[in-house]
Amino acid sequence: MTDTTTAIRIETIFPAKDIQQRLEGLAAEIAAKQPKNLLIVPILKGSFVFAADLLRALNAAGVSPEVDFLTLSSYKKSRASSGQVAILRDLDLDVEGRHVILIDDVLDSGRTLAFAKDLISARGAETVETCVLLDKQAPRAVNITADYHAFVCPNVFVVGYGMDVAHRYRELPFVGRILD
Ligand code: IMP
Ligand code: MG
Repeated sequence: MTDTTTAIRIETIFPAKDIQQRLEGLAAEIAAKQPKNLLIVPILKGSFVFAADLLRALNAAGVSPEVDFLTLSSYKKSRASSGQVAILRDLDLDVEGRHVILIDDVLDSGRTLAFAKDLISARGAETVETCVLLDKQAPRAVNITADYHAFVCPNVFVVGYGMDVAHRYRELPFVGRILD
């Protein structure tokens, strides 16, 4: 598609239909473990569309988790990571003794998920797993792998399906890359 206001062109990488189909499989993977006392924690903002669809797929797969949100920042306005992760809004719920699955949009340098995982573990969660929409084939700054991922993604900057560049394009129903 072409954004007519800016003439920016976005090439689809993962079409909406493929995402929905894959989420059924992902939900089945999670459901197969029959998680008890499950708390799903979407990391905002980027994961909100993915998390909403995954939660509905989990419901269809017979999983009834509690849900709470953690807002972290790692990227500022630019496309380059600042390297620092900060808590912008914390969880309301206590995670002690719970099975937690962190949901994020992209695993890139790994700093965001590693930070969140350490934080939730330090608060006494029984287990902390990670689930990402995109496992980006990028060099990791820290040693972390996602327990679940929907897609492996090339090392390009992507937008859509919740992901933004400077707060734009989150509403796109597909994942695309910006063509410079
Ligand atoms: P990491 O901490 O470097 O792994 O980056 C993870 C965070 O950076 C994700 O939660 C995203 O919000 C953001 N991010 C990384 N790559 C992209 C991208 O290609 N498009 C949009 N956001 C991205
Ligand atoms: Mg994010």
